[in-house]
Amino acid sequence: MATNTRYLGLIDRYRSRLPVKDGCRIISLCEGDTPLIQLHNIPRNRGLDVEIYVKFDGLNPTGSFKDRGMTMAVTQAVSDGSQAVICASTGNTSAAAAAYAARAGIRAFVLIPEGKIAYGKLAQAMMLNATVLQIRGNFDDGMSLVKEVASETPVTIVNSINPYRLQGQKTAAFEIVDALGDAPDYHCLPVGNAGNISAYWMGYSEYFDDSTASHRPVMAGYQAAGAAPFIAGHPIDNPDTVATAIRIGNPQSWDKAKAAEKESGGWFDAISDEEILATQRMLAGEEGIFAEPASATSVAGAIRDIKSGRIPSGSRIVCTLTGNGLKDPDIAIEQCGKPQIVDATLGAVESAIASAF
Ligand code: F0G
Repeated sequence: MATNTRYLGLIDRYRSRLPVKDGCRIISLCEGDTPLIQLHNIPRNRGLDVEIYVKFDGLNPTGSFKDRGMTMAVTQAVSDGSQAVICASTGNTSAAAAAYAARAGIRAFVLIPEGKIAYGKLAQAMMLNATVLQIRGNFDDGMSLVKEVASETPVTIVNSINPYRLQGQKTAAFEIVDALGDAPDYHCLPVGNAGNISAYWMGYSEYFDDSTASHRPVMAGYQAAGAAPFIAGHPIDNPDTVATAIRIGNPQSWDKAKAAEKESGGWFDAISDEEILATQRMLAGEEGIFAEPASATSVAGAIRDIKSGRIPSGSRIVCTLTGNGLKDPDIAIEQCGKPQIVDATLGAVESAIASAF
C-alpha cells in the first residue's frame, strides 16, 4: 500500500516554528514547497564561476510569495473572529488576500493604484471575489488609507505590517536551508515594501540560532532605479518603474530591512528598467523560467555583482523569483512583439521554420 504523503502547506510543515494556536482552523491552499532551481545556462554562457539557484515562489497557488504570508495572516484573522481583510497592493498581495479570504469564507477589500497593476493580478482579484477599489494614487497612498480605514472599521490589515505575514514568509528561508543542507553564502531579493527581505532574515536567523544552519547569508536587496528609496536613503514621492510590483516609495518595513542589511553585511542597490526586462528575457530564453519583471531584479543584481566581484567566485547564491511571469502578459508581449501570421499551408510553415534558423 502506498503511504499518503500529501503536502498540506507551510503551516502544517513548519507548525512548531510558527505562532499558530492549537486547534485553530488553518486556512491554506497548500502554498510553499516551491522549487529551488539551479541555473545552468546563465552562468555558463557568461563564464561565471558560481553556484546559483532561484527559489521560484511564482509557483505558489496565486502565483507569488504572498501566499506564504497570507496563509498565516488569514488563519490568524479567522481565529480572531475577523469577518473581513483589507490591503493596499501593487497586485500580488491583492490576489493572495482575495484567494485566502475566499477560502476562509470572509470578505476581502483591496486598494490598488489605478492603471498600474498587471492585468493578470487584476483578473485574479476580481475573479476571487474581492471588492476591488482602484484609487487615484499610488501604493503608498493606498497604504495610508488602509491604516486609516482599519482604525475605524473592524477589518484586519493583511499587508506585511501584519506580523503574521512575515512569519509565514520566513518559511522560504527554512525551505532553502532544508534543501541545500545549509544557508547559501548570498541571498538576493527584489525589494519593494521590504517585508520579504525582513522575513527571510528572520527565517535564516532562527535556523542559525538553533544551529540548523551553520551561518546566515549576506542579504542583497535590489530596487528598481525609479523606485529606490533605500538607495536614496529616504522615502521618495513619485516612484516609477516598469516592474509595477515594486513601484513603492515608502517601504513599511524600513527598519527591519536596514537591520537585515547591517547584520548580514549586505547591501541595497538599484537596477534600471532596461536591465530588469533584459534579465526577465534571459531567465525565460536561457533557462525556461518565466518570472514577472520585479522578480528578475534579484537575478539582475546578482549577475551584476558577480561580474564586479562584489559576490566572489565560488559563492553559493540564492535569488528569489517572487512572482510568475503569467501575471503580466502585457509586458511580455510588448517585449517580444506579436507572433508572425502565416498561411495554413505546409509551404508557408516550412519556410517560416527555415527562416528561424
Ligand atoms: N516581487 C513581487 C512580485 C512583489 O509583488 C513584491 C511586492 C515584491 C517583489 C517586493 O516584496 O514588498 O516584501 O519588498 N508586492 C506587494 C504587493 C507590495 O502589493 O503585491 P516586498
